[in-house]
Amino acid sequence: AITRITGREIVDSRGNPTVEVDVELRDGSTGRAAVPSGASTGAREAVELRDAEAGRFHGKGVRRAVDFVNGEIAAAVLNLDAEDQAAVDGVLIDLDGTANKARLGANAILGVSLAVAKAAAASHRLPLYRYVGGVDARLLPVPMMNIINGGAHADNPLDFQEFMIAPIGAATFAEAVRMGSEVFHTLRRDLLAAGHSTGVGDEGGFAPNLRTAEEALEFVLGAVERTGYKPGQDITLVMDPATSEFFRDGVYDYTGEGLRRTVEEHVDYLAGLVARYPVASIEDPMAEDDLDGWRLLMARLGDRCQLTGDDVFCTNETLLREGIRNGVANSVLVKVNQIGTLTETLATVGTAHRAGYTVVMSHRSGETEDTTIADLAVATGCGQIKTGSLSRSDRTAKYNQLIRIEEELGSQARYAGREALGLRR
Ligand code: PGA
Ligand code: ZN
Repeated sequence: AITRITGREIVDSRGNPTVEVDVELRDGSTGRAAVPSGASTGAREAVELRDAEAGRFHGKGVRRAVDFVNGEIAAAVLNLDAEDQAAVDGVLIDLDGTANKARLGANAILGVSLAVAKAAAASHRLPLYRYVGGVDARLLPVPMMNIINGGAHADNPLDFQEFMIAPIGAATFAEAVRMGSEVFHTLRRDLLAAGHSTGVGDEGGFAPNLRTAEEALEFVLGAVERTGYKPGQDITLVMDPATSEFFRDGVYDYTGEGLRRTVEEHVDYLAGLVARYPVASIEDPMAEDDLDGWRLLMARLGDRCQLTGDDVFCTNETLLREGIRNGVANSVLVKVNQIGTLTETLATVGTAHRAGYTVVMSHRSGETEDTTIADLAVATGCGQIKTGSLSRSDRTAKYNQLIRIEEELGSQARYAGREALGLRR
């Protein structure tokens, strides 16, 4: 039974305040979780409660959320059985009483939900991935490593937010990390040689002063090749253009490039990139409220490319079901703080899998040293994780946790590899 809950305000990887929660059980077991935060958020995400208190953290304080954790929420969940995650999460959802966790805040609720799961796992002396995923949890995900940052995550003119490498040809997760690290360092040298800055963006990828996706893809592809890997075989490319950020008045407004593309031109442009570069997966290729565009792109690339919905689904099972009915995407990005409880997150993963959609576990651009998502990737057997570059400890902490899990699983561990991006149609 839950005997103590403590919320506090800490800082995330951008130096912004966020919620951390400690949970203690009667048997002395403890769990701790820290809540991530996005910059290019979907419009229908669960609400992150911010104090809007002038003169304190530029209005971004989370003292109200923390007060809810220590007050109302603690009172409601004290003495509940931590092992009954669904019941605990149900109490949190009912206590909030809104459809999008706007009253108590998804940041308050998620911190409690995850900390409860971690305390329950500790009580069983089980690692989180096994407590949540059972004995079958032994699939290590393909990492999607974001080595060039643009969009809302950097100050450069790149319209697309993320250029990633996925080492699908690795034999193990540890080897995938090594391959990614090697390419990251080749890329650094190549950028330096070309006179570019090698400062990094929010997710630890370089943020050079590039304008077009082609320029970024050329650098990434070149780095893969020069490191000695076969593009498409050993390492495939992945993009997250995060298009909801630049879809305005029915057109895609490429401000970095200084041009606008209609929905049809944007679809043509993406199809052209997929034809010219070994891009196996694109996240948010179309904006969250461009459903016609999504259908157009699915008809064009859906059989060839993993098309992952982030903003369009917001890890929300109801939105995902709607999307599945409407033929939107063939894959879903999963971010725990978009929905706010572990139970709802797992429900979304289950619905995706039953519909033949692939699942990518994901960090946010604002992260902490918390590594829960690494365990959740293994627990759900989703086979893919997106958690940033090979720099910034807020990113590498997740990779390091997966290296530890792989070691612990020993000969039972399997690396997901190329099938993880399995195409549906
Ligand atoms: P965010 O970006 O965490 O800033 O929302 C990540 C993404 O768009 O996938
Ligand atoms: Zn995204």
